[in-house]
Amino acid sequence: MPVIGLGVYLNDECATACQVALEEGYRMIDSARYYMNEAQVGVGVQRSGIPREQIFITSKIYHVDFGFARGRECIQESVDQLGLGYYDLYLIHSPVTGKTKRIETYKALVEAKKDGLVKKIGVSNYSGKHIDEIIDAGLELPDVNQIELHPFCQQRPIVEYCRAKSIAIQAFSPLVTGQMDHEVFRQLAKKHNKDEAQILIRWSLQKGYIPLPKSSRSERIRSNAQVFDFELDNDDMDALDALDQGGKGAVTWNPVEEP
Ligand SMILES: NC(=O)c1ccc[n+]([C@@H]2O[C@H](COP(=O)([O-])OP(=O)(O)OC[C@H]3O[C@@H](n4cnc5c(N)ncnc54)[C@H](OP(=O)(O)O)[C@@H]3O)[C@@H](O)[C@H]2O)c1
Repeated sequence: MPVIGLGVYLNDECATACQVALEEGYRMIDSARYYMNEAQVGVGVQRSGIPREQIFITSKIYHVDFGFARGRECIQESVDQLGLGYYDLYLIHSPVTGKTKRIETYKALVEAKKDGLVKKIGVSNYSGKHIDEIIDAGLELPDVNQIELHPFCQQRPIVEYCRAKSIAIQAFSPLVTGQMDHEVFRQLAKKHNKDEAQILIRWSLQKGYIPLPKSSRSERIRSNAQVFDFELDNDDMDALDALDQGGKGAVTWNPVEEP
């Protein structure tokens, strides 16, 4: 799985962003049925001319479509919308709607994997207790848990749980949805001659997460990927780690406590 991806939430005209990202070296795109842009992702990939098998594309099923039969239909619809034959990763978007529907939906993902519609399956906004349900049902472990992760929202119990089970952790909203006006970010940006976004993406990478920064602007898509020519030292990482407010630091919906 690539180590960084382009997020495309709130970018329903994202074909150009995807194309630019791929030309700049990104090899992962994170979409969802809820974003209403799966077809645009397909167009961007095709315009890039990069072979399909070199690109890792994700979508997610939203809770309004949970359940086994509807889940199966939705995954097929997603694949048809994308127009590239399969998804590399398909996630349950959130644990919203209760245990029974979560498990039924997960079974739909398992089936879709057997049928070759998706290569890997996973979850998003899941805490350990939601993943335990999957284990208790005798189903395969998710390959990925995608959660909100940035210095203000480090969700350490979920991270530790996923690490212990070798579940890859994708970091959504790694740029705090653009709210990066903070003294620590500013100081580190100055120290490393980088911008705040690059500092946050680098922190995410050094934590072992897979960050999914979103931008609609070509110059930011480019700069957000220029994070492999510097390193944060232990003091830098400690200063960023110290900003943690747990789940309270979330700036999006973060439904990890869903019963
Ligand atoms: N699974 C889930 O429930 C879930 C929830 C939320 C997000 N996600 C995924 O994670 C992706 C990223 O999260 P996100 O979109 O919420 O937030 P984000 O990536 O943390 O931040 C995106 C915001 O930052 C701005 N930005 C991007 N690069 C910048 C830079 N270099 N300097 C200053 N501002 C910059 C963007 O504006 P411009 O576009 O104008 O550059 C946009 O407003 C989403 O697109 C989606 O794929 C998943």
